[in-house]
Amino acid sequence: MTWDGRMRNTMFRRMPVEQATGQLYGGRHRLRVVYRTRDLVVLGLGVMIGAGIFKISGVQAATNAGPAVILSFLIAGGVCLLAALAYAELSSIVPVAGSAYSFSYVAFGEVWAWVVGWSLILELLLAASVVARAWSLYAAQALSDLHVPVPDWLAGVIGQPKGFDVFALGILLLLVVLLATGSRLGLRTLWFMVMAKLIVIGLVIGVGLAYFDPGNLEPFVPPARPAGDGGGQSVLDALTGAVTGGSPQVFGVWGILAAAPAIAFAYIGFDLIATAAEETDDAPRKVPRGMLTSLLVAVVLYVGVAVTMVGMVSYRRLDPDKVVLTTPFTMVGAGSMGTIIDIGAVIALTTVILVVLISLTRVVFSMSRDGLLPRGLAGMSRYRVPSRATLATGGAAVAMSQTIDVLTLEQMVVIGTLFAFLFVCAAVLALRRDQPDLHRPFRMPAAPLTAVLAILATGWLMLNLKVQTWGYFTVWMVAGLVLYLLYGRRSSEMRRLLDRPPPRRPVAAPMAAPPPDLAGLAPWPAQPPVQTRQPSPQGRPRPQAPRYGRPEPPPRQDPPYPGGGRHRR
Ligand code: ALA
Repeated sequence: MTWDGRMRNTMFRRMPVEQATGQLYGGRHRLRVVYRTRDLVVLGLGVMIGAGIFKISGVQAATNAGPAVILSFLIAGGVCLLAALAYAELSSIVPVAGSAYSFSYVAFGEVWAWVVGWSLILELLLAASVVARAWSLYAAQALSDLHVPVPDWLAGVIGQPKGFDVFALGILLLLVVLLATGSRLGLRTLWFMVMAKLIVIGLVIGVGLAYFDPGNLEPFVPPARPAGDGGGQSVLDALTGAVTGGSPQVFGVWGILAAAPAIAFAYIGFDLIATAAEETDDAPRKVPRGMLTSLLVAVVLYVGVAVTMVGMVSYRRLDPDKVVLTTPFTMVGAGSMGTIIDIGAVIALTTVILVVLISLTRVVFSMSRDGLLPRGLAGMSRYRVPSRATLATGGAAVAMSQTIDVLTLEQMVVIGTLFAFLFVCAAVLALRRDQPDLHRPFRMPAAPLTAVLAILATGWLMLNLKVQTWGYFTVWMVAGLVLYLLYGRRSSEMRRLLDRPPPRRPVAAPMAAPPPDLAGLAPWPAQPPVQTRQPSPQGRPRPQAPRYGRPEPPPRQDPPYPGGGRHRR
């Protein structure tokens, strides 16, 4: 075969489902199982209810949609729900830590998997940094609300939108250490904080609705008017401007749609539940359930807060540069809610950073385990968490948050997420076509229609992002591709496995139906070792199992996921 042919074969080689889930070569499921369905719901709410709920409804009502921002929340929620159904189907087939990255590996091949993984790294690294910055702003505000004296030397380095910031640095370091030393502590902490923030959101809605004035919803869809030049043009504006010569508009029906991509930031997080699949008991069923439940709860909460926000004061009185969730309460004379909201924001943003860091480490762990990033990053600590990936990604998030003006890059988080949505929805179509007999404990309803609709809707949201965001994203992706060509392609675990002999047992059989002896959670019958040391065609011995950061333990005798086996550790 020519060099070109070999390269194409490596770059586009797809990972078999059984390899992705560890059934083919064993030894992939090394993370500790800690999550149940309700933990996944908490994980989802932990990350979805964050900076978005404290800011986005007010800003979008004031700048783009008026009271109809309620519809924007429903539209963005609908698009995310479609994408969530696609994630749910794929998580039930490939319940592993890599989420969209692993789905793309199975459906499209290595280079696409890398592209999606690289985009997830962008999304999650930036999300952690952006939210840590926002955390600092709210924490400084909460200290001021509580009249806590802050020494002069500290005042200049907390609550800063950019530059060195002690709070942003401190919260990231604290959470990284928490995660690197065992996820049970992290999970318990998460439950406590998510409950606290739900109480605060309940109070916001309950108290806010007492000040609800239907007159504030008039006109529900404000008439369209030309946009100012602040904030930069979206790709769609640029395209329509080039074709029709018209100038961008805000409000009106167009404004309702234009607000949706910013709102997508608020819902970001349901997709991250998929990265917890490897740590979830009976993941093929529980991950879809947890993901869809948490998204539906988040949509209800976000719409509730949006109704409260636009019902308390007219959108015309909101200053887009200053509006936050406390603003309408101050305006109606319920300023004491401000302190509660600021404390709630500090708690809420803490959980966002926590879950984002968890997911980021799982994606990096998966990519390293597959050899696309240095294998050392897949190393586990004695707490059975990927502590090296945690420390490395935590360090990167710290560096990013302290050196870049990340608060201006919020849309980069959205574009990275939406890009992954596109691939996940397309992967549903590809796998239904290429591997129709795969066992699918969850099926996306009305697919392929819903999957196509999800792709179109996600594409639409992406077109509504700024030209500048697309520019930065392109640079990031090109840098990623270069890195893949220089490193990942050569050190890929799949490439290493290409020459291996096929496993002795048929790989498709366990995917089709659970073996009967799994009914009572009986352990998976002992298999003869899949690999024996056999000479390669060149006469060199092949390694017996994928090589990660440290020597692999013997393959686990787990029941296969798709058969409904439980993973008790
Ligand atoms: N959805 C998360 C938030 O709103 C990213 O902060």
